[in-house]
Amino acid sequence: MAKKKVKIKESLGVDIGSHSIKMVHLKKIHEGFKLLNYEIKSTVPAGLEYTPSDLTPERFAPVISGMLKSLHINPKKIKHIVSSLGGDSTSIKQIRTIFLPDEELESALFFEAKKHLPISGSEMLLDYQVLNVEEKTNNMNILLAATTRELLTEHSHILSDGGITPGIVDIESLAVANSFALNTFVEDGIYIILNIGAHKTNMVIYGPKAKFFARDIPWGGYNFTKDIMKEQNLSYERAEEHKKEIGLKKEDAVNESTDRITLDISEKSTAEQITMEVKRSLRFYVKEAGNSDFRKVMLVGGGAKLIGFPEYVADQLNIPTEIFNPFVNLEMPEKFKDKQDPQLALAVGLAMRPE
Ligand SMILES: Nc1ncnc2c1ncn2[C@@H]1O[C@H](COP(=O)(O)OP(=O)(O)OP(=O)(O)O)[C@@H](O)[C@H]1O
Ligand SMILES: [Mg+2]
Repeated sequence: MAKKKVKIKESLGVDIGSHSIKMVHLKKIHEGFKLLNYEIKSTVPAGLEYTPSDLTPERFAPVISGMLKSLHINPKKIKHIVSSLGGDSTSIKQIRTIFLPDEELESALFFEAKKHLPISGSEMLLDYQVLNVEEKTNNMNILLAATTRELLTEHSHILSDGGITPGIVDIESLAVANSFALNTFVEDGIYIILNIGAHKTNMVIYGPKAKFFARDIPWGGYNFTKDIMKEQNLSYERAEEHKKEIGLKKEDAVNESTDRITLDISEKSTAEQITMEVKRSLRFYVKEAGNSDFRKVMLVGGGAKLIGFPEYVADQLNIPTEIFNPFVNLEMPEKFKDKQDPQLALAVGLAMRPE
């Protein structure tokens, strides 16, 4: 007998970042989703400087359970809870192989993945998705995603200690792409999505017909704050405030990169480092994918709120750049009508993920 399909009524996207946890609670409605509630909560006490190594799992669980309480969510009642893994121990890559029949696919892909993904063998957990089979060549395009057993175990512990039974766990880059793809109707062209977190910027290249690409750039909001601390001799707390008030410093906002070419690499600002790395990846992508139809840069993550950064990126990359509003396609209750926050993009992508 065919299994009865359980319809998702409510879903919860949980984005556990190194700086803050983001939760988005959605309800499935006829043609899409309605926003029920959301919250962003820092895992670091306000004003306290931290490094990623300070962020032990014990720090996250109480924040998660506190958020469930304030959002009035009983996680046992929500069938569709989606969270994500990112960072160094995860990897995702689109590859092309000769046609492989189903029964050979998995073992062949495991072998391929070891070749393509920078994750060591025995501990690797692999997931894949056949994107299409090319008619002319019969080659297959496949999206390979990998992580380590250790990271998944740690993640599951954080969730269950916080009161959530782990459900679907996605790779961050995929969820970032989803938040854009599920909310925007584009047919052609290539879109660059930059998820600017605290310690990293997750760069994703996505287009309905374009080759998928993702990488992490090891600079983010924390580094912007560090720049300000150094230049203005401010404490972490003051620099963080200053960053939110003033945004990108003036020297970066006006383009003078040509004068700075001779400077040592350590003198480059975070804004320069990030855009330099993006440019590098774009050059690589054009070579590899043979496609340079870049239409837009979409900024998400907490760092996307940095005043002046969209203009800076547009100027540096010469591609129109905007802040992506993850609520654009959701039905919004009156109290959230004017709300939008790029920091929630990943959590929205997770909550909207099909089962
Ligand atoms: N208004 C603002 N202006 C500039 N930066 C901001 C603003 N609001 C938040 N940020 C920065 O955004 C960062 C946090 O963003 P986010 O929540 O996306 O990171 P995260 O997901 O916790 O980190 P990661 O993805 O690196 O693990 C912090 O560095 C914070 O200072
Ligand atoms: Mg993040």
